Amino acid sequence: MPKDVLVLSGVLRGQGNTDALLSRLLHGKKSDCLWLAFGGDTVSPCVNCKACKTQSVCRIADGMQKVYSAAQSAKYVVLASPVYFGNLTGFLLDVLSRFQCCFKDGYRTAPIIGPKKEGAVILTAGGYGETAFAEKQARLMLKMLNVENPTMITSYQTDTVSAISDTGALNKIDALRRRWFS
Ligand SMILES: Cc1cc2nc3c(=O)[nH]c(=O)nc-3n(C[C@H](O)[C@H](O)[C@H](O)COP(=O)(O)O)c2cc1C
Repeated sequence: MPKDVLVLSGVLRGQGNTDALLSRLLHGKKSDCLWLAFGGDTVSPCVNCKACKTQSVCRIADGMQKVYSAAQSAKYVVLASPVYFGNLTGFLLDVLSRFQCCFKDGYRTAPIIGPKKEGAVILTAGGYGETAFAEKQARLMLKMLNVENPTMITSYQTDTVSAISDTGALNKIDALRRRWFS
């Protein structure tokens, strides 16, 4: 059965800051979600085999295939990641590279994947570095899935205040949950 919510999770440490915000958003909705997550799914990086130049799909048979397919029917996409060295985690960077099949000739963008969807980005960071690049990469990935202007939920002082005590982030999560799921 098609799932309403596609979740792309770069979380490496279960029950940490990022997971806490993700769980608050998706509590009770797990059966409506299709997950792509580190530890549960294998995703190869794009290996530039160029198969997608002629067949317009990615030939690598791994966890990404369910993302391409779920993106046709999902209404919502949630991308969640801790910030690592100013970026998304390595797992999500591999996922991002697999949207190369959306590009043709290096310039022209093929149809983005599936109909328009609403989206959200959840990022947490310890607070000792730059985060703008992680935000940009997250927006780019969601754009490939036909999400424009995702709701940005960030908790950027987790070294001193855990994300689950960050009232600003919690308020945004709760508002989004009401808007999407009630
Ligand atoms: C490998 C690694 C790299 C990190 N790089 C950054 C960084 O560039 N900027 C930052 O503010 N925090 C950085 N942090 C801190 C994490 O982003 C922060 O602790 C985050 O809340 C962890 O999320 P989690 O509890 O869901 O694992 C890094 C942590 C690790 C383990």
